[in-house]
Amino acid sequence: HSAAATMAPKVVATRRLLPQSQARLEALNQIDLVQWQGEDTMPRQQLLDDVKGAEALICMLSDKIDKDVFEAAGPQLKLVTTLSVGHDHIDLATARERGVTIGYTPDVLTDATADLASLLTLAAARNMKSGIDAVRNGGWQDWRAAWLCGYQFTNKTLGVVGFGRIGQAVAQRLKAFGIGRTLYWGRTEKKGVDAEFVPLDTLLTESDFVVAACALTPDTKELFDASAFKKMKNTAIFTNIARGGVVKQQDLAWALQTKEIAAAGLDVTTPEPLPLDSPLQSLDNCVILPHIGSATFETREVMSAMMVDNVVAALGNQPIPFELKK
Ligand code: DGY
Repeated sequence: HSAAATMAPKVVATRRLLPQSQARLEALNQIDLVQWQGEDTMPRQQLLDDVKGAEALICMLSDKIDKDVFEAAGPQLKLVTTLSVGHDHIDLATARERGVTIGYTPDVLTDATADLASLLTLAAARNMKSGIDAVRNGGWQDWRAAWLCGYQFTNKTLGVVGFGRIGQAVAQRLKAFGIGRTLYWGRTEKKGVDAEFVPLDTLLTESDFVVAACALTPDTKELFDASAFKKMKNTAIFTNIARGGVVKQQDLAWALQTKEIAAAGLDVTTPEPLPLDSPLQSLDNCVILPHIGSATFETREVMSAMMVDNVVAALGNQPIPFELKK
């Protein structure tokens, strides 16, 4: 090792990035890059060992960046930057105390995630899981007038919990399918939106479609529990593209089994991956995808590029371009 090499700032990445950004990261001059090469989550102990002495850490939402990680890293850690807009996996209070800047990926995944929310809502409303199963297993026998009927959007009411960038983009898309009225609930009333800010109970009781698009915080943890599902219409379709933790999952399973609500579309669960023996797995009225809201080539490549931009800025002691103000 030359003196220069041993001085190179250490950058730890818990996964490989998308191709263009991976190449850029590897081409960065004078960094000591330590990167988990697996497709899977970097093992916890490996992270705790490797992060020691790092100045920047690129992480994923599947890595828990708690106090132990900050402490294992040491006082020179400048930046933690996550390949996600969600940040419930990062201990922000500790980051603040230790003066560590947090980077994330807002805006760029809004369209991809809102597309998937629309897809899941449509899929749940139109019995897509039963339909696909029937085609594959011989259940499709002939055309039947009342078979696999679902619900349409024409003149219906949409309720969005968490009316941020993604929630608003979902509302815009579903309006094109005929939604007549949009309600929303969240921390703050939004200016200039074509939607009504209402109490949560009003949203739950009056909406035909309920979409969770909020951040997971102590206020939203298990917000969707048995009492919330009871307030919803029996014909309601529930979509969750936020975090599994906003739902009390056993209560959702109960609500779907007892037809307290009609159907659900989930891109997020607790835990992830969802165990094969979860009661949700066997329900025909529950469409589940494996947390792929932002998974388009376009979006994931831009998200990756934002990680590299943040690292370059932080190592150069510049303000980072994509900072989470905590
Ligand atoms: C996020 O960004 O928080 C999504 O869950 C994954 O892109």
